[in-house]
Amino acid sequence: MLVLGIETSCDDTCAAVVRDGREILSNVIASQDHLHEKFGGVVPEIACRKHVESLQPTIREALERAGVCLQDIEGIAVTNRPGLIGALITGVSAAKAMALALEVPVAGVHHLESHIWANFLAEPELAFPFVSLIVSGGHTDLALARAPGDYTLLARTADDAAGECFDKSARALGLGWPGGPAVDRLAREGDAGKARFPRARVGDGLDFSFSGLKTAVVRYLQARPEDVTLADVAAGLQEAIVDVLVTNTLRAAEACGVEWVAVGGGVAANSLLKQRMRQRCEERGLRLAIPPPRLCTDNAAMVAAAGHWRLEAGLDDGLELDAFATEPLATVPPAA
Ligand code: KG4
Ligand code: ZN
Repeated sequence: MLVLGIETSCDDTCAAVVRDGREILSNVIASQDHLHEKFGGVVPEIACRKHVESLQPTIREALERAGVCLQDIEGIAVTNRPGLIGALITGVSAAKAMALALEVPVAGVHHLESHIWANFLAEPELAFPFVSLIVSGGHTDLALARAPGDYTLLARTADDAAGECFDKSARALGLGWPGGPAVDRLAREGDAGKARFPRARVGDGLDFSFSGLKTAVVRYLQARPEDVTLADVAAGLQEAIVDVLVTNTLRAAEACGVEWVAVGGGVAANSLLKQRMRQRCEERGLRLAIPPPRLCTDNAAMVAAAGHWRLEAGLDDGLELDAFATEPLATVPPAA
């Protein structure tokens, strides 16, 4: 089944064509980073207006790169929750209009579910059940994925997301936006041992907390010792974030007794996170799926993959499909 995926939940306008939920024929991402950079974060009003402008050209490019025409599309998958409401409505409206014109089904996809499915695009051997860490600018969640549509949220962040901590600390370090990739690069020249930051724990559970770490970095920079470079601070910050992400993910995997760990979301592009997660999974005999950076950050191929199983099973959200700004990941009812 040939599925067109559409993703407009935040600041990237994305369209992709995926065959049978696994084979990526095209995956186009029109980044808005240059528009939001000077504000140090995503400005919702600007993001929505840009989606309106970019969506049709992005869809056209996805079809062209895939070598298919609109009439070949057999189903449409679109992110409809959670996200910036105006941004989501742009994608959902386009998806519904196209589904109506083409007389094909449309499936609304939860953004976190799509990050989970990005792992299947990158790792053909991945099999349910697995523990999934979804770590991005807006989310830091641990979920147990038992089967398609069957997810249990195990943990989330009590305050800031890990990507947000990277971005806000990067601003304090005088780096550009988004800050995660800049910290990743700078940290390679630093010594994490020279600037050690606290690891927050939320009770005995698996929940995360990153706002204290961001504050600790800002305070540290106000009175930075002379022999500690900005690269050392970047390395210390990255080490603190990665340590907590890896530790809690492995605790979850052990508690659930799964064979596989899957990591997704923009922060999964972080080089230390990949290296540390790989090493710790190997030590414990766990198998690991981490997609390449292009499938970790927001994209529409993962949306097409997540929508495919429901479209294939005959589900059609139809013209009643709506967009929701907030909604936690929960079990998605199986297709009718
Ligand atoms: O998944 P994503 O593209 O969008 C959201 O849904 O948030 O994630 C973007 C986040 C940003 O906070 C960005 O700084 C972070 O992912 N990020 C990274 C790296 N690449 C992107 N964080 C750390 N290291 C990286 N290499
Ligand atoms: Zn995302």
